[in-house]
Amino acid sequence: MPAVVVVKNVQVINETTQSTVDVRRERLMMRAFQSPLVGPLLRRLANPQHIVEEGMAFWSSRLMLTAVERGVFTLLAQGPLTAEEILDELGWHPRAGITALDALAAAGLLRRDKSGRYSNSGRASLFLCRDKPSYIGGLMELSSTRLYDLWSGLDDLLRTGTPAAEEEQGENEFFDALYRDPAALRTFLSGMTGISTGEVTLLAARFPWKRFGSFTDLGCAQGALSVRVALTHPHLHGTGFDLPVVEPIFTDYVKSFGLDDRLQFVGGSFFTDPLPSAEVFSFGHVFHGQSREGRRELIAKARDALPRGGALIVYDAMTPPRKSGLQFQSLLSSLNIMLETRDGYETTTTDCADMLRASGFGSVKVRHLIGPTSMVYGFKA
Ligand SMILES: C[S@@+](CC[C@H](N)C(=O)[O-])C[C@H]1O[C@@H](n2cnc3c(N)ncnc32)[C@H](O)[C@@H]1O
Repeated sequence: MPAVVVVKNVQVINETTQSTVDVRRERLMMRAFQSPLVGPLLRRLANPQHIVEEGMAFWSSRLMLTAVERGVFTLLAQGPLTAEEILDELGWHPRAGITALDALAAAGLLRRDKSGRYSNSGRASLFLCRDKPSYIGGLMELSSTRLYDLWSGLDDLLRTGTPAAEEEQGENEFFDALYRDPAALRTFLSGMTGISTGEVTLLAARFPWKRFGSFTDLGCAQGALSVRVALTHPHLHGTGFDLPVVEPIFTDYVKSFGLDDRLQFVGGSFFTDPLPSAEVFSFGHVFHGQSREGRRELIAKARDALPRGGALIVYDAMTPPRKSGLQFQSLLSSLNIMLETRDGYETTTTDCADMLRASGFGSVKVRHLIGPTSMVYGFKA
């Protein structure tokens, strides 16, 4: 017998009496979903798994960041090890440690052989071992120690427009505050190499470098652009320009490639000091941290310092004009820089090209590099 439910002003949820859902429709949909004929197609179209994975992406992110930070891949660069040996070396507890190693194997970053020994997969071996020049794990280390927690402030950013980074809530001195801690300085600069190596490798091939003999990379960090451009074009001499505290880290990196005869460092601020002269200037991931006014000022300063015919290159995670998957990454990057700085944002390639033209650059070109990053360049008329 159906239950008798007497509730004032409340809809009764009881299939035999009244229902708030269209039960007939629900049953039809369920049958279609369960059907061996149309079910597989429907399950593909209406699968919530993708949404679940996006929502829970912080699980895999946290696992990967921790593995890089704790040096799992760097440890395995010496050769395969058993789970016991790895846990012993890392000081991990077997209860979670073995599951973490297996999860990294399931994610394709580790391999496990029949005898149970773990080794790096090809891409982990190339990109996640600290001692290799192709290491991009600095970005993960930076994210683990800095960005991961900053993103918890997204809700506040959305309500207030104020960055989560504490130093940005007081004096606007992002780099001074960050660089006060020598470990943070190194992690940040190596993280920048992680972000930029793929981009500048392509930039070295997609800009007409043959026409020029010298360049200055403004805000050079560890020197990813200088190194990749100099390796690609043996005729070029380059300068890395950055805050003075960056010098030893730039110099070590450049020396490790044997390029110290063609690449030099000059310390200073691109806002207050003269720019080291060159035929090409570049700003990589510098504009995204600046206000519109700051960008205008830097473009004008570069233009004034360039010889006629000289070039300015700007690259950032700029949003491409047409809708594409790249937009998502670029917009996320924009939120990231808003969490870090008071004035920063990622612009569009069109806007950046317009700014160069408005400042007197001609033959302005937009070229996609890799992932969400594009470069815009123009020549001083
Ligand atoms: C986000 S990082 C980009 C690094 C590098 N261009 C890249 O794309 O990987 C910004 C760089 O600009 C430098 N920088 C910040 N303010 C500067 C200033 N006022 N003068 C010179 N360099 C500055 C920072 O030290 C840092 O290396």
